[in-house]
Amino acid sequence: MASLEVDIASIEPGSTVTVKWRGKPVFVRHRTEHDIQLANSTPMKELRDPEEDSVRVQNPEWLVVVGVCTHLGCVPLPNAGDYGGWFCPCHGSHYDISGRIRKGPAPYNLEVPEYKFTEETKLLIG
Ligand code: FES
Repeated sequence: MASLEVDIASIEPGSTVTVKWRGKPVFVRHRTEHDIQLANSTPMKELRDPEEDSVRVQNPEWLVVVGVCTHLGCVPLPNAGDYGGWFCPCHGSHYDISGRIRKGPAPYNLEVPEYKFTEETKLLIG
């Protein structure tokens, strides 16, 4: 299956870029210091699908998640929702800045695909 190389050098802190990988959208978020603090200050007991932020990222500045809502597969909108992450307009699921489900019908966190940094500013997804 094809891998996708993404040049992340021009993605500003606080912004999200959507790329297409294996027919699916993948969100690449350049997280700010505030985003990182928010993601790490969330008590596990508040999470429906409890996962520490540290197991979802390789570098805290970069969040890479498949942009497919775990409810019925719509594409959530970035920089939206009540938790600083994504909002799925189909049935109202809110994801946080770690891509974790916080409110609404979706059962699971946004999936983290296989990826690695090949250089400081290059990401290989898949
Ligand atoms: Fe996202 Fe239903 S598909 S909330």
